[in-house]
Formats: sequence, C-alpha cells, structure tokens
Amino acid sequence: MIENIKSELARYGYVFIPELKPNCCTEFIANEIGSIFKVSSFVGYEHIPDIQVLTPREESKSNIKNKYSDNFGLNDFPLHTDLAHWLCPPRYILLRCLNGSDLVSTKIISYDFLVNLLGVKTFKKSVVKTRNGCVLPIVFDKAGITGMRWDSLFLIPMNPSSNEISNLIKSEIIEKNSHHIFLRNKGDTVIIDNWMTIHGRSSVMESEKGRLIERAYLSTIG
Ligand SMILES: [Fe+2]
Repeated sequence: MIENIKSELARYGYVFIPELKPNCCTEFIANEIGSIFKVSSFVGYEHIPDIQVLTPREESKSNIKNKYSDNFGLNDFPLHTDLAHWLCPPRYILLRCLNGSDLVSTKIISYDFLVNLLGVKTFKKSVVKTRNGCVLPIVFDKAGITGMRWDSLFLIPMNPSSNEISNLIKSEIIEKNSHHIFLRNKGDTVIIDNWMTIHGRSSVMESEKGRLIERAYLSTIG
C-alpha cells in the first residue's frame, strides 16, 4: 500500500483511498502510513492536537478570525496551502472521513498545472507577506524538493508576479480544472501533498453540516 501511495502522490499530488480500515482510529492510520508532523511541538501551537477534527461551522462574529471557518463559514474555502505562513509548511495532509457527504468536496489543483500556465520564472520571482510582516517566497526548496505555498487569506502578494499568481488562482480555468474528492464513507481517506498542490473545500449546505473529517499532518510517507 505504501508504494502505491508514494507513486500516486508523485504522479498526481494526492491519493484517495476508499474506506481505509474504517474501524481503526485516524492516529493509527496516520502512523501506519507515515510519521505524524506534530504541530504542537512548535511554540505558540502547543494546543493543536495531532489529530484535528474538522466540522462545518458558521462564520465567526468575533474580530479574531484565525481559521478558514471563522472567515468563510459554510461558503467555499479558497485554494490554499495549509500553514502557508510557516517557513516550511507540513509536507502532507491526511484527511479521513468519520461522517461523509456526497455534496461537499475537497478541491485540489497541482503546482505543475499552475506552472504550465504562468511559467516557473513567475513562481520563482514571487514573494508574499505574512500578517506579521514576514516576507516569504512562494516557491521554496527543502532537502532537494521544490514546494510552493499559497494562501489568499493569510498571505499578501507583494510583487507583480505574486499578483499574477493570485489572479490565476481565482480564475475560472483553475475552478474548472480542479479535482474534486468526495469523502463519502467512513474511512475514506485522502492524502494531499501540501507542497505540490493547493486545496480548498466546496460550500456546505444546511443538510451537510454533519460532515465530520479528521486531519493529521505527516512529514514522511512510509
Ligand atoms: Fe486546508
């Protein structure tokens, strides 16, 4: 199974595994597939559990909006990298279905698709700024692997090329070419390469508010 996961990730940037051991807990599955990236080991993130529960929520009325749900509520979540404002975002995201939906999708598009449209130079020249003023490149290299970051909520484009990328990601061509993954049945699992793709969530209608997903970050597969 691990070799298949690795090859699908290398080819598409994500892998969907239907009804993967539905009676096992997500922590067990995450440890079986790879090594859990412990967000809680970073200063300021000690309260984040290794396995996070994701449920649709209404938009927050508070002035402090630190999560996608706080800002977008039940509407579409725009395409993004998880923890894009970190110097090095976690490599993989594992999402696992506890209570599924036929109508809510996880949208994914690959970095390669974006690069084919705008050219690698545009990406390499692009910089963004975090909310606390830290300037970061969109493209980064870590251990010989090139990754990208994107987030239209927590990162601000800082030069013409990053604005070009911003406009592309919001365009219809990206909407039309995004892959839609549906976590329908208990145990349905998708692993996303958080460096090679960006992802989002479709809107959630009233009837789908019971959707329940667990998330773990992984640093390695296998
Ligand atoms: Fe996300």
